[in-house]
Amino acid sequence: MSDPEITVHPPDARLLEGRTAVVSGATSGIGQGIALEIAAHGAGVAFGYRSDPDTAHRMADALVALGRRAVAVRMDVGSEDEVREAFARARAELGAVDLVVANAGREAEVRLVDMTLDDWTDVIDTNLTGTFLCCREGARQMVEQGRGGTIIGVTSVHDRMPWTGFSHYAASKGGQRLFLESIAKELAPSGIRVVAVAPGAIATPINREMLDDPELRGAVEAQIPMARVGGVAEVARAAAWLASDQASYVTGATLVVDGGMTLYPPDAG
Ligand code: BGC
Repeated sequence: MSDPEITVHPPDARLLEGRTAVVSGATSGIGQGIALEIAAHGAGVAFGYRSDPDTAHRMADALVALGRRAVAVRMDVGSEDEVREAFARARAELGAVDLVVANAGREAEVRLVDMTLDDWTDVIDTNLTGTFLCCREGARQMVEQGRGGTIIGVTSVHDRMPWTGFSHYAASKGGQRLFLESIAKELAPSGIRVVAVAPGAIATPINREMLDDPELRGAVEAQIPMARVGGVAEVARAAAWLASDQASYVTGATLVVDGGMTLYPPDAG
């Protein structure tokens, strides 16, 4: 994979200077875009990776070379021990965490009648249990620090839209949404905001097959009022805003970034 450009916004434009973030699944797609955007806004970032240490280290090193705080941390979000260790390492290297981006996700197409228990648990462990573990570790540091913070879940339009062939994925996304809304109520008295960004069809490696097949891509774009797939940067900018004090009265909310996809079905005729 070729590395995206790594830059930092001018001081006046930075929304997250002094903040410290852990991002899960930070080596590709939306997670990578969000990690780099919040770093560009001045946050110190722990880049969580599962299978691509090289990319995580390259991004962290590039930011350190620009004088920023960054570290790569191994974190399979399905493993309680790895999540604990990654958050402890982030705190030791960068300071107490006050921003969590629970992004790591997995999707695979399989019809219900063919779905094995392993298919089901693979998706639920990463998407739902992984979100729980990252939120819990982040919230523990934030509560202990007593200075509040922000938790962002990266969900999906399928937190509300059923999806044929992806029932486990939709279940995980619907579950994430109610989990995040519940902890938003629980953590509000501690000054911790909990929000979600729900992307629609975005140009990322997870969608490679659809993006490369003009017919499939056309069928997806026909369901999007804006008639195009979204860009990673369009999701990343929304997440950076949600993380910032610009969104100081926003909690328990989901910002849908989908070109209108959730307004489906299209008008008849
Ligand atoms: C999935 C994409 C899909 C989009 C819209 C996302 O949650 O990751 O693969 O294109 O939803 O269906």
